Order: sequence, then structure tokens, then C-alpha cells
Amino acid sequence: MAQFKELVFSGVQPTGNLHLGNYLGAIKRFVTMQETHDCIYCVVDMHAITVWQDPKELKRQIREVTAAFIAAGIDPKKHIVFNQSQVAQHAELAWVFNCVARMGWANRMTQFKEKAGKDRENASVGLFAYPMLMASDILVYRATHVPVGEDQKQHLELTRDIAQKFNNDFAESIAENGYGDAFFPITEPLIHGPATRVMSLRDGSKKMSKSDPSDYSRINLTDDADTIATKVRKAKTDPEPLPSEIEGLKTRPEAENLVAIYAALTNTTPEDVLRDHGGSQFSGFKAALVDVSVTKLAPIADEMRRLMADPSHIDAVLADGSDRARVLAAQTMDAVKDIVGFVRSR
Ligand code: AMP
Ligand code: TRP
Repeated sequence: MAQFKELVFSGVQPTGNLHLGNYLGAIKRFVTMQETHDCIYCVVDMHAITVWQDPKELKRQIREVTAAFIAAGIDPKKHIVFNQSQVAQHAELAWVFNCVARMGWANRMTQFKEKAGKDRENASVGLFAYPMLMASDILVYRATHVPVGEDQKQHLELTRDIAQKFNNDFAESIAENGYGDAFFPITEPLIHGPATRVMSLRDGSKKMSKSDPSDYSRINLTDDADTIATKVRKAKTDPEPLPSEIEGLKTRPEAENLVAIYAALTNTTPEDVLRDHGGSQFSGFKAALVDVSVTKLAPIADEMRRLMADPSHIDAVLADGSDRARVLAAQTMDAVKDIVGFVRSR
């Protein structure tokens, strides 16, 4: 199997209300990856419009996700930060992948079923094609590693299937064009750590989500210290004190969630948290959780506000990132055209 240079890619949709789940499951881990890898982080605005977005709000949200990336500590000079729509090759490769992927594969995607709901006839065709665009985001850079939350696992499996099928279907042409025995890497999903699935603060059986009607279900990255404190104090719990062992969390989803959040925020493990807080009542544990949440999150919110006050700086970051991403994506797309058999006039 061909060797691919290690490269990290991930994306976040600019669909409003970035929350603690996005931070712990994705953005915080993006920051860690940049110490050891070349990284490309993308604001996936074309994915956002698979469901209706108000144009003015969309622009604001694209800038807000970019601000969150920078405020959390992503370095857009060393790595690449850009918005998807500015690199046309994502859409171009997605078309090829629409022709590689099978209807049956796309039909199995649970996120489509959840988002389309009961009225599937009225869902956009884009929502159905969403996973092929996601595969294209990753593979247009031939990225090898993708840090995401647990909810993206199935989409990454599809990405691997698409890469595999492309490599097989075009094996002869790939070799003839000088790309050896595989053109696309079989990307590795990175779904690690205590908080790859942060749950709602109101219901431990539902994941924390941008679209939950209750704002108390999530901590938004833009919440101020008082709001964070109120939401943590109001978080649903049960009457028992915290257990000392992990097994004691098995049937207590709300307690398990708060312990996981605490562990992720402090770069420890749930075991460590229970060693320190096992036997505590929730009132005491929540006070400690408010402390770490405010200490870690309030500076990010402050920095996001500062950055949002100067949209021209954010736009300059995106323009620079898009220019650098486009160079890489164009190389892949030229090769794909040769491999597929399109005649290239330039
Ligand atoms: P999205 O906002 O859907 O574009 O998600 C951006 C990133 O955040 C993806 O990597 C998701 O897997 C991750 N994510 C979203 N919600 C959660 C959650 N509740 N817990 C952990 N990760 C999440
Ligand atoms: N589908 C991802 C989500 O909703 C966002 C996304 C789009 C993505 N393209 C990607 C994530 C490529 C990782 C890699 O969270």
C-alpha cells in the first residue's frame, strides 16, 4: 500500500451556537493536533446550506467559527484555516464521489435520517449528498487523520469506503498515471478522549446540540461566566453522591456526562476525577465544575468577542487560508481528472 504524508483535516459547520460539545469533541483536539501534525481546519459553509440558512446570519456564523478556531489556539499561519466554498475543488471532487458511492451506502446514513426526519421527500438533495461532500473535503487534501466527535464515525467509514472503491475501480489508471497502487489514503478517524460525545445538560440520553430548543441544554462558547455558572448549577443530576469507581456511573448518564466534561476540561480522565471527587455531593462537584469551566471557557469567549469586532481581520485569515488550500486541492483534482479519464485543457 502506498505511503501518504500524515496530514490532519477537520471541519465544523457554521450553523450557530458553537457549544461545549464542539469544543471538547473537536476544536480543543484540533489545537492539540497542531503540535505534531500539519493541519487543515475548514469552516464547512457548503455543508451548512444543506438545511436553510439565512444569508446574513450565515456570513456572521462563518466568521464566528473562524474566531472560535483562533480564540481556542489554532495558529492560522502555521496551519490552514479557511471556508469550504472558497475552494471550488471540494464541490468538483464531490461530484466524482457522487458517482463512486452507491445509493445503498448513502441510504444507510443515520445522520440523514435524523436530519430529514419524517418529511424525507422535502429534504434537500444536498442533505442526502452531504457525506460525499465530506469525503471530498478530506480526500481533496489526501488527509490521513480526521479528529471528530463520535457522531461523525459513520461518515468517516463512508469516506474510507469511497477512497477504497476509487482506488479499486481506477487501479489500472492510477498506476498508469504514476500514482502507484493507491491514490487516496484510507483515512484514520480520531475519536478519542473522555468527551467525544458530550450530552445535553438537561437530558443525559440526548447529545448536546446546536439545535436543542433549550439553551440550558448546552454551554455555548460565547456564554459569559455568569451564564456558564447558572447552566452548570441547573444541570440535571440525581440525588446520589458521586461514586468512587467508573462502574458506579454506568446507569447514571447525567453524572457520567458531568464527570466526562470535568475530565476533558482538565486534561485528566474520569478515573482521576472520581479519585478526587468520589463521595462528593453534586452541589460541591458542580461548584468545582463551574470553576474549571469558567477558567477554560471565559477567555475563549472574550477573545472571540474581540476578534468578531474586526471582521476584516477574520476575512483576511480566511482569504489567506483559502489561497493556500486551493493550491493543494488543485493538485489532487488535476490528478483525479487524469485518473478518471477527463481530457484536461489546462
Ligand atoms: P458540527 O457542529 O455538526 O459541524 O460538529 C462539529 C464537530 O463537533 C464534529 O467533529 C462533531 O462530531 C463535534 N460534535 C458535535 N456535537 C458534539 C457533542 N455533543 N459531543 C462531542 N462532539 C460533538
Ligand atoms: N459533518 C461534520 C459535522 O457535522 C462536519 C464536516 C464536514 C467534517 N466535512 C468534514 C468533519 C470533514 C471532518 C472532516 O460535524
